[in-house]
Parts: sequence; structure tokens; C-alpha cells
Amino acid sequence: MNEEFALALKAELAGAVVFGADIPERFHADWSGLAPVRPLALIRPNRTEEVAAALQLCNRFGVPVIPQGGLTGLAGGAQPRADGVVLSLDRMTGIEEIDTVMATMTVMAGTPLGTIQAAAEEAGLFFGLDLGARDSCTIGGNLATNAGGNRVIRFGMAREHVLGLEVVLADGTIVRSLNKMLKNNAGYDLKQFFIGSEGTLGIVTRAVLRLQGKPGAMTSAFCGCPDFDAVLALMRSARRRMGPSLTSFEVMWPSFYDFMTKGLAELRRPFSEAHGAYVLIESSGLNAEQNTELLQSVLADALEEGFISDAVLAASERDARDLWAVRESVSEYSRLMGPLTAFDVGLSSHVTGEFVREIEATFKARWPDAIVLSYGHIGDSNLHLVSNIPSAGDHQPHDEIADLVYGAVGRAGGTISAEHGIGLLKKPYLALTRTPEELAVMERIKRALDPNNILNTGKVLSV
Ligand code: FAD
Ligand code: LAC
Ligand code: ZN
Repeated sequence: MNEEFALALKAELAGAVVFGADIPERFHADWSGLAPVRPLALIRPNRTEEVAAALQLCNRFGVPVIPQGGLTGLAGGAQPRADGVVLSLDRMTGIEEIDTVMATMTVMAGTPLGTIQAAAEEAGLFFGLDLGARDSCTIGGNLATNAGGNRVIRFGMAREHVLGLEVVLADGTIVRSLNKMLKNNAGYDLKQFFIGSEGTLGIVTRAVLRLQGKPGAMTSAFCGCPDFDAVLALMRSARRRMGPSLTSFEVMWPSFYDFMTKGLAELRRPFSEAHGAYVLIESSGLNAEQNTELLQSVLADALEEGFISDAVLAASERDARDLWAVRESVSEYSRLMGPLTAFDVGLSSHVTGEFVREIEATFKARWPDAIVLSYGHIGDSNLHLVSNIPSAGDHQPHDEIADLVYGAVGRAGGTISAEHGIGLLKKPYLALTRTPEELAVMERIKRALDPNNILNTGKVLSV
């Protein structure tokens, strides 16, 4: 490590920087499954000005900077480099303001998503972003990845929940754009450059979030459907009949449902019989009775029409949590399956049923012992696949699996990432879903904002 750079870091950021062997192991890897890498240094700033000072120095010395939030990203975006410094936002936490008139919340980037959700509810409002990693991921990471999750069908992706941002550019410039207004068309909407750019264009240090009215009641139902065509018929009916009350539409194929409910004894199985597909619907409304009645009547009609064969409607919050526990069992993958190859592809719902049938069959033909689980946010056209080849042990054929899945996604006109981002893992496949012209514009933006290529160097783009 350049001695002058190390001395300058120590002088500018005393108390916020550690080097080499003093860096705790948890900063050596994100949750993508890539092998740990020890960075040169770890910087944990307490204030935006310290982030700016750190970037100024890294820019001057040409040292790569890897931003880290809660490390729950699954694309390798927060994975360190041996020649870079990690910039963790984990000390920059806290809710600075809740404005109940404007329905906004101003937060520091390292604040966990779950803390934001709880604070919004306490203030009589609601934050519409939700995902399984809620208690570990940070809002900065959510915005940097433009996270999706469970309620996109109603409230949109992370991008839809942001009104203003404070970001630090590669050269240390602090851009305060902490807009609170729902409408602001004064020039370019700068925050959009940083949302979903996975730390390659700037460091998010603060955000003004858009809050929603708090639903008076929420309930969930777990449905067994005969096949995927029935799932689509149910989705169409639920959209039409429930309108804005439909806040989640999650689908699990038998591959997922059987494997997870057999593997985890603590899960309460909603059904004893097998079904062709399983759907978890969440309904939200102002009034508990009306909300339940609406969902009940949608389910009753679906039963009559043959779109569902059976359904369990939650009678209490506890029931709803039990139903969601089946879907949220994804956090136990590594324990049940060992090393994974995981996907978050996007596909037109018209082709998803056939896609799953073919891809599961292709896996089994190629690797007879393959475990491949299919599920996802199908209300948002977002399919997850997770696979493990037991006979391959620690040497999973990640590249061959990725070639197989992304090749099929490309042929089906889908996207290689619906919500997790590109990071390191999907970089070789980006051109499958982006045109040369789109990639060239991305590269021009990157060069303009980060001419020395220090921000998350080597992630997303090959510049
Ligand atoms: P990290 O993993 O620390 O970082 C992610 C990326 O953002 C990296 O590129 C990093 O460099 C960059 N970054 C982090 N903080 C900043 C910052 N302040 N400024 C600039 N760049 C930054 N994702 C979904 O979209 N939908 C889901 O439903 C979903 N469910 C999940 C369930 C589980 C059980 C798990 C483990 C993960 C899930 N994820 C999901 C993936 C993950 O939680 C999200 O990608 C999340 O947004 C990452 O946030 P983080 O704080 O952990 O970011
Ligand atoms: C999920 C994550 C993995 O939806 O995105 O389970
Ligand atoms: Zn997801």
C-alpha cells in the first residue's frame, strides 16, 4: 500500500480507518457467495464530510473504493478488492426527520430498512418498500441497487420511494439534493443517476423518502392453484377486483414449496395436499372487515372458476406471519443447500410457465441430482431460480449454470436482473439484455462522473 496514501488517510480520518489484518472479517465479503477478499483499508465514516474527505484522497491516489451497506446484496456489488478500500456506511445511521405533513422521512444511508419501516408506522404512516433482508440491509444499499421486494406490484421499486438524495461524488464533492416535494421538474432529476447504479457513480449518504398513508388493515392468503395458467388467471382477477388493495402477489412452484417445507420442520405447511403452484396474496385496505371480505370474495370466485383448488386465509397477524414464513424461508437456503447459484431474472408473464418447465427439465437432464427451486415476485414479472448440484460439492458449475439460464432468458426476451443488480456476478452477461448503444451511454455517464474510475471499480461495467 502506498505509504503516503496510508498516512494521509490516518491524518484525515483518525478513528474511522483501519488497515490490513485489523479489518474485521465481516467486511471481507458480501452475501453473494464469492470468496472473501481482504481490502487494503476499511473506512467507517460518521459524517458526510468524512465520506468526502475519504473520496478526495482515494481519487487523488487512484485507489478503488468499494461502498458497503448491510452486505446482503446477492450480485457481488459490495465485494472488496485487494487493491481497494472498503467504505462502509454502517456508522451513518439514524432517522433525522419525519414530516407528517409532507409525508417524508429524512434518513442517513446506513439506516436499516426495518428501522425505517417501524418508524414510519409509529408516525402513523407507511414505507412501501419491503424485502426479506429488511433487518440487515440498509436504505443506502436499497437505493444503490434499486431494490424490489414484496410490494412492488403496489408501490414500485426503491426508485419510487425517493424524493431527494445527498451524494458524494468521486472527487469528494457533496451534492445536497434533499428535495421533499412530490413534484420538482427543475432541470435534470439528478438522483436517478445514483439510484440503481450500485455505487459506481457516487456514494449515497442521506435520503428523503416518500411515505404512504398507513393501511388500516392487511391480510394474506395462501392459495394452491392447479397450474401456472390458473396462477395468471388468478393474478388478472385479483388485479381487476382488488385494485390498489393488492399489495403482494408472490408465486412458489412445487420445486420450491416441497423442498423448503420438507427441509424446515418449523414451517407450518398451509396445505397437506400437493398443488401445481402456490400463490401468496397480500391485501391492504382501510377497514379490516372490508379488506377481508374483498379478499374472501376474490378467492371464492377463483375457487368456483377453478383458478384455485384450495386457499388458507390468515385469521390473525400471527397466521399471516406463518404463511409468509414459507416464502421468507429463503434466508435458510445456504443452511439447506450449501453453495448456490441464484437468479433474479425478469420475464414476460406470458412465457414464465413454459420457461420454468423447460429450465427445470434442462437442469435435471444435465445434472440428474440437481436441486433447482423456482419462485418469485410474479406479480412484477420477476422470477427467482436457486440451484445447487449436490454431487459438485464446493465446486458448483456456476458458469455453466449461468450460461444455461441467461442464454434461455436472452432467447425469451427477458432481463438478466429484475432487482438484485449486476455487481460482479452478472457483468459478463449484461450485453444479453442491453444494446451496444445503451452500454455506450452507461460508459459515458460513468466516465463523466468518475473519470479516474475509482468508484466500485470493475463492478457493473467493464470500463
Ligand atoms: P450491500 O449489499 O452492502 O450493497 C449492495 C450494492 O450497493 C453494492 O454495489 C454496494 O457497493 C452498493 N452500496 C451500498 N451502500 C451504498 C451507498 N450508501 N452508496 C452507494 N452505493 C452503496 N433484493 C431485492 O431487490 N428484492 C428482494 O426481495 C430481496 N430479498 C432478499 C432476501 C434475502 C434473504 C437476502 C439475503 C437478500 C435479498 N435481496 C433482495 C438482496 C439485498 O437485500 C438487496 O440488494 C439490498 O438492497 C442490499 O442492501 P445492502 O444494504 O445489504 O447493500
Ligand atoms: C427473494 C430475494 C432473494 O425475493 O430477492 O427471495
Ligand atoms: Zn426477490
